[in-house]
Amino acid sequence: MKKIWWKEAVGYQIYPRSFQDSNGDGIGDLQGIVQRLDYVKDLGIDVIWICPMYQSPNDDNGYDISDYQAIMDDFGTMEDFDTLLREVHKRDMKLIIDFVPNHTSDEHQWFVESRESKDSPKRDWYIWRDGKKDKSGKTIAEPNNWESIFGGSAWEYDEKTDQYYLHVFSTKQPDVNWENSEARQAIYDQVNYWLDKGIDGFRIDAVSHIKKRKKLPDMPNPKEKKYVSSFDMHMNQKGIQPLLKEFKEKTYGQYDVMTVGEANGVSIDEADLWVGEKKGKMDMIFQFEHLGLWDAETNLQLDIVELKKVLTRWQKGLENNGWNALFIENHDKPRVVSTWGNDDEFWYESATSMAAMYFLMQGTPFIYQGQEIGMTNVQFDSIDDYDDVSAKNLYRIRREDGVAHEDIMRILWASSRDNSRTPMQWSAEGNAGFTTGSPWMKVNPNFKDINVEDQLKDENSVLSFYKRMIALKKEHDIFTYGIYDLILPEHHQIYAYTRTLEDEKVVVLTNLSTKDAICEDLDFKISLDHLLLNNLPVAAHDDTTTVVLKPYEARVYKLS
Ligand code: GLC
Ligand code: CA
Repeated sequence: MKKIWWKEAVGYQIYPRSFQDSNGDGIGDLQGIVQRLDYVKDLGIDVIWICPMYQSPNDDNGYDISDYQAIMDDFGTMEDFDTLLREVHKRDMKLIIDFVPNHTSDEHQWFVESRESKDSPKRDWYIWRDGKKDKSGKTIAEPNNWESIFGGSAWEYDEKTDQYYLHVFSTKQPDVNWENSEARQAIYDQVNYWLDKGIDGFRIDAVSHIKKRKKLPDMPNPKEKKYVSSFDMHMNQKGIQPLLKEFKEKTYGQYDVMTVGEANGVSIDEADLWVGEKKGKMDMIFQFEHLGLWDAETNLQLDIVELKKVLTRWQKGLENNGWNALFIENHDKPRVVSTWGNDDEFWYESATSMAAMYFLMQGTPFIYQGQEIGMTNVQFDSIDDYDDVSAKNLYRIRREDGVAHEDIMRILWASSRDNSRTPMQWSAEGNAGFTTGSPWMKVNPNFKDINVEDQLKDENSVLSFYKRMIALKKEHDIFTYGIYDLILPEHHQIYAYTRTLEDEKVVVLTNLSTKDAICEDLDFKISLDHLLLNNLPVAAHDDTTTVVLKPYEARVYKLS
């Protein structure tokens, strides 16, 4: 297997708005990140991914970019960015930024010009269509019935030119028309601006959405809904590969950087075209099949057998061709300890067991800020305390449908993206040490119990476990390059696998349930002398092929 720096790296995702405020305005910023770099380095991180820090009116917290070559005022200046990059490099880490190619802000100069008139030279840079009309030619409905990912129609009417523009995400995120070569080149120029600045790569936002179905047909609508979920028409569509190929060739393909695409809807069968060593368009993708197993409204119980099937498919599928990006949290998902885990009685155990389960697989693992201290979901009583545009849309639309306030809040408590966007919990001091001012989003009230400062002092904390686990991964090549094999596939409580590199072998055993779990008839003996990592004290035991794991217990052994 080819050895490459980014295969050996551990990534850490920062949501700048919620990481550290440096000037007391209540909003995290670039200087705040600089202040915390020693913490990140000490954790054992090699690559930092920061969510968008470009100029933006913040309809979707920076994913609506109004100028790709300027920094959001809330976050600082370009000088601050240059400082951040320098300080990251000084500590021998890398910095990747989040590039958004699928859409811009409606306040981006390109869109401002595009909406001016039907003859604007930039009209075709976005996706404009006539609405459906009545016999007299009057516009009466959207061009098609697609629903936006954030709720409501995917089309916004523009009075001036009596046409609609497409927005797969929020109304303030018009989709760029990737069929237009000038628009594509304009996007590439933005990417190259950052490459020339010396950043180390990109997370590429929503990249599986850049191609839309030809002619933008209506979705089938047997239930006669007003708008229909429209992923089938704009996610991973036929014809996307040539676009991705050109994107790569005209930008990052020319640099030694790492790229990880957010690739919702891509299955292992197509992975070769996305990340294969010869045909791939990027180094890794974030795939979402495993997170899709959990749905707040229907199913609160994690199906461990299914989880094993999905992740094993990706592990084996990319074994000798491609590379996995490993993750269980990000800024779009609720906190894993509150969903898959148990943030009550087994908070410590489940946070650490989930960690060992995914982190020691083959791939480049990412940790989302706060995951390493077991931050949990939050429950705000008022919709005013929520910020996320999709949460607000959901609330508004369901209220219009007559759903009770309490019922909607229960859904948001379980599923809102704001669960992972509350400020980072640095200490037990006011506002968790995030800001001296008034935070842009309320701090999770449990910061007195869950914070970095306390956990740094406690060798039995979630944070200390993460540090040991990261150090272990770095110490042994087998955790990077070793081949993954699932064991106990049918076990309903345990996720266990081996890693093999030449004549070395290790086994990762994790109980992901609230009950004791027995691993028996293992094909190998495990010996206490070879225990490499554990989240709970392990009693003395003889060499054995049977182990009983306590609720959410995790152990890693070397096998000889
Ligand atoms: C991605 C981002 C998400 C954002 C969306 C639109 O899914 O992770 O935060 O809202 O793209 O840019
Ligand atoms: Ca600030």
